[in-house]
Amino acid sequence: MQKTILITGSTDGIGLETAKALVSQGHNVLIHGRNPAKLEEAEKILSSLTGDGRVESYVADLSRMTDVKALAKAVTEKHDKLDVLINNAGVYKTPESVTQDGLDVRFAVNAFAPYLLTQKLLPLLGSNARVINLSSAAQAPVDPEVLAGKVKLSDDLDVYAQSKLALTMWSRTMALSLKDNGPVFIAVNPGSLLATKMVKQGFGMAGNDIRIGVDILTRAAMADEFATASGQYFDNDVDKFASPHPDALNPQKSAGIVHAIEAVLAEINH
Ligand SMILES: NC(=O)c1ccc[n+]([C@@H]2O[C@H](COP(=O)([O-])OP(=O)(O)OC[C@H]3O[C@@H](n4cnc5c(N)ncnc54)[C@H](OP(=O)(O)O)[C@@H]3O)[C@@H](O)[C@H]2O)c1
Repeated sequence: MQKTILITGSTDGIGLETAKALVSQGHNVLIHGRNPAKLEEAEKILSSLTGDGRVESYVADLSRMTDVKALAKAVTEKHDKLDVLINNAGVYKTPESVTQDGLDVRFAVNAFAPYLLTQKLLPLLGSNARVINLSSAAQAPVDPEVLAGKVKLSDDLDVYAQSKLALTMWSRTMALSLKDNGPVFIAVNPGSLLATKMVKQGFGMAGNDIRIGVDILTRAAMADEFATASGQYFDNDVDKFASPHPDALNPQKSAGIVHAIEAVLAEINH
């Protein structure tokens, strides 16, 4: 069946390649990027693929929460239903690490933006829909002061790993609180050190076959094995559902992180 799928960060890497796979399978894919020229190029490539799928593109810089809200509004104006939301956009190394809202870019793009986008798009996501959140093998205990941008870290990997655990924590919390009244939420580590710009720039290495990541995102979006896995974490390094960092399995800690995210978003809004 033809699905309507929004993939954030689909101008490069795993997001772009997954968009290619899904368009080729005949799905309607809503692509997103922050760079209009790259987005136009991606749309051109995707539109030239054979298949019945349609491609639509949306520009938004996910380090800015105003852009996140505008993205949700633009999608909502065109669609009353989404089958899959893949929160794929992510950042590891960046020349400017503080956003205009005073947050670390990694927390803004990797944890806050997907949280806010998902909340805003919930009315479009029925109980058969899926939200796939791009987690990572790198997960580290979240310092609320770092999350709120009050303490800055110079270690890219530390702040990236904290942002990915925050995402994994809200993913499970949202799943458990919405239960059957919302979509299926799955946090996915797509595979470590896959050959993308993030890995080239961040670790100076070519990386592993990107198709490892494309394959698991396609399965998470489509396959039956994920339909009843809401709240779980899939670790593609071992090709199975696995335990995330223990903090993500601790309801009190996870609720605390969700509360902290909400508090920061409320402050930004004023
Ligand atoms: N590659 C791996 O081994 C690996 C492992 C674990 C998890 N992941 C996760 O997988 C996801 C995809 O990563 P990737 O490896 O494919 O990296 P990538 O090639 O760098 O692609 C990242 C995508 O996110 C977009 N993006 C970054 N910052 C943005 C912002 N401020 N606003 C809007 N879009 C933004 C990028 O846009 P531009 O094209 O403009 O840069 C690009 O489309 C990320 O969440 C990453 O953390 C990757």
